[in-house]
Amino acid sequence: MQFHPTSVAESIVTVSAPAIVAHKLNHYFGTGSLRKQALFEINLTIAAGEIVIMTGPSGSGKTTLLTLMGGLRSAQEGSLKILGQEICGATKHQLTQLRKQIGYIFQAHNLMSFLTAKQNVRMSLELHDEYNSTDLDAKATAMLEAVGLGHRVDYYPENLSGGQKQRVAIARALISHPKIVLADEPTAALDKQSGREVVELMQNLAKEQGCTILLVTHDNRILDIADRIVYMEDGRLVEG
Ligand SMILES: Nc1ncnc2c1ncn2[C@@H]1O[C@H](COP(=O)(O)OP(=O)(O)OP(=O)(O)O)[C@@H](O)[C@H]1O
Ligand SMILES: [Mg+2]
Repeated sequence: MQFHPTSVAESIVTVSAPAIVAHKLNHYFGTGSLRKQALFEINLTIAAGEIVIMTGPSGSGKTTLLTLMGGLRSAQEGSLKILGQEICGATKHQLTQLRKQIGYIFQAHNLMSFLTAKQNVRMSLELHDEYNSTDLDAKATAMLEAVGLGHRVDYYPENLSGGQKQRVAIARALISHPKIVLADEPTAALDKQSGREVVELMQNLAKEQGCTILLVTHDNRILDIADRIVYMEDGRLVEG
């Protein structure tokens, strides 16, 4: 059963409300004569707890759509509801609040090189006031143990392999129990086995936490973890 919430209040009481609803979403880059449309009339509903993989050629608009959904870029035209909240025309403050409920995993893991694995993961909790009084080090260590890095908590990124760094990024994205995880080519830099391990890890942790995953990939070897696959071409979305 699916509900289509019309207000934030309603989305809180209806636990099965969709996590993401895009309706006739358009996006443009540039202004004046350089203005170029990157997304055309995107319609996409992702249920809470669903794992959706998005594929499609380079330049088709996947990252653009992901960054809009994550509140990393302002939505311009149409409707985009994330966790029941309309983000087309949302204020900076609303987008900041939204971003706290989302975990991001990107190809270039963006770990802080001057922080250890544990400090990188811990930093994600420090952004959340509700964790103020808890033992952040213990939580970060437990999360790193969950991704198989209990023996590397005090290592700096430069001393970790690509797969290990990606696991730290996953631990960092999931430790605050985000409602949505957005992942852009999380396995691109990894060999077949590490890539597989990393997505299975994401899948298991997400299922445990009941979070929704939208994952962009060119990697055919991981398509089977998805509940559904959608395809982007020339800025338009085609359900697979
Ligand atoms: N900041 C930007 N300014 C102008 N145009 C942009 C910008 N970002 C992306 N584009 C354009 O928007 C289109 C979609 O780009 P996007 O990065 O979303 O593609 P993608 O599907 O993620 O590609 P890839 O698989 O190579 O990562 C491309 O034509 C790109 O050139
Ligand atoms: Mg991209």
